[in-house]
Amino acid sequence: MGKILVTGGAGFIGSHTCVEFLERGYEVVVLDNLSNSKEESIRRIEQITGKHVKFYRADMRDAAAVRAIFKAHPIDAVVHFAGLKAVGESVEKPLAYYENNLNGTFVLLNAMHEAGCKRIVFSSSATVYGMHNPVPYVENMPTSATNPYGYTKVMIEQMLQDICHAQPDFSAVALRYFNPIGAHKSGLIGEDPNGIPNNLLPYIGQVAVGKLQQLSVFGDDYDTPDGTGVRDYIHVVDLAKGHVCAIAYAMAHEGFMPINLGTGNGVSVLEMVHAYEKACGHAISYRIAPRRAGDIATSYADASRAKELLGWEAQETLETMCEDSWRFMQQNPNGL
Ligand code: NAD
Ligand code: UFG
Repeated sequence: MGKILVTGGAGFIGSHTCVEFLERGYEVVVLDNLSNSKEESIRRIEQITGKHVKFYRADMRDAAAVRAIFKAHPIDAVVHFAGLKAVGESVEKPLAYYENNLNGTFVLLNAMHEAGCKRIVFSSSATVYGMHNPVPYVENMPTSATNPYGYTKVMIEQMLQDICHAQPDFSAVALRYFNPIGAHKSGLIGEDPNGIPNNLLPYIGQVAVGKLQQLSVFGDDYDTPDGTGVRDYIHVVDLAKGHVCAIAYAMAHEGFMPINLGTGNGVSVLEMVHAYEKACGHAISYRIAPRRAGDIATSYADASRAKELLGWEAQETLETMCEDSWRFMQQNPNGL
């Protein structure tokens, strides 16, 4: 199979992706500084799969540490999740975001270059479609950003494109995730944010489990069927499987390729609340609040490139996304 370095492998999407790689016989080496995750998630990946994970608690900006990993392991390809990801925080602390996400990626790419590793799958985001493209988003649309977090994604995609241009045997797949939610069916790993969640699903989950009082629905006067924001929610296990397909693609092709990972369907905030109510069996308290700065009305993917190039399509439903998220919340009301 092969040996994959997973940066940010202790995090939400990274941990689910490690499981999918391990279950297909890949060896996995994880680099994570645990700034937004816990070592417990590594133990749980091992519990689910019965396989060993080689874990390095290290910062990707630490060039010596990253170089040492490439020295110790023949890494066939890198899946690069590590990064800071809170949009609002990036507006407050732009330098921290540029420093961590850009400098970290720079150190990683340099270490790959030194080690002769030429395959990378990068966690990009639908945020690179900015505010002005029409939906559904297609990969050849112009990219832009509205906050430092989004700019780090746009800039890293540019770095990867430039490297592919300069080095024709290099391969970089930028996976543009839509809104990842849900959890592994075992209920052992899932989304475990620090503090009060920014994102809809963890917030709803914490209201459902009784940790938070009430959800604020940010705006009900958007130009959408029920007036609330519409997003393309994608089950994290579907997303994780997309990375296995993307690595296979990167092994067989050279060059830069951005690929959307979404379902192609939009779901409104209120539809999500009602789907979650069905999964947890009781009402979720909510109120209508003002719009959140920087939000757009509607975002969903044109998912055809992933199907065509990767043979990948989302399998899970809104129902299973909510059921799996609820199972994780119930089993881990206080996180990992
Ligand atoms: P996460 O915070 O759960 O995972 C990121 C991991 O990276 C964490 O475990 C964190 O400790 C680690 N990390 C951060 N900086 C590091 C550093 N300097 N050195 C080593 N490790 C470091 O986030 P996630 O939701 O799993 O997201 C993974 C990736 O996907 C991120 O790049 C994120 O921007 C991107 N993404 C996420 C979403 C989403 O809604 N969750 C959407 C689009 C894109
Ligand atoms: N929302 C609420 N109440 C909340 C939280 C969210 O009503 O407490 C609404 C938002 O207004 C939006 C929808 O729920 O309409 C989804 O919001 P999220 O914060 O869950 O997700 P976003 O689409 O705003 O952002 C996500 C990631 C970003 C990424 C972006 C585009 O968090 O990192 O998708 O890919 F940049």
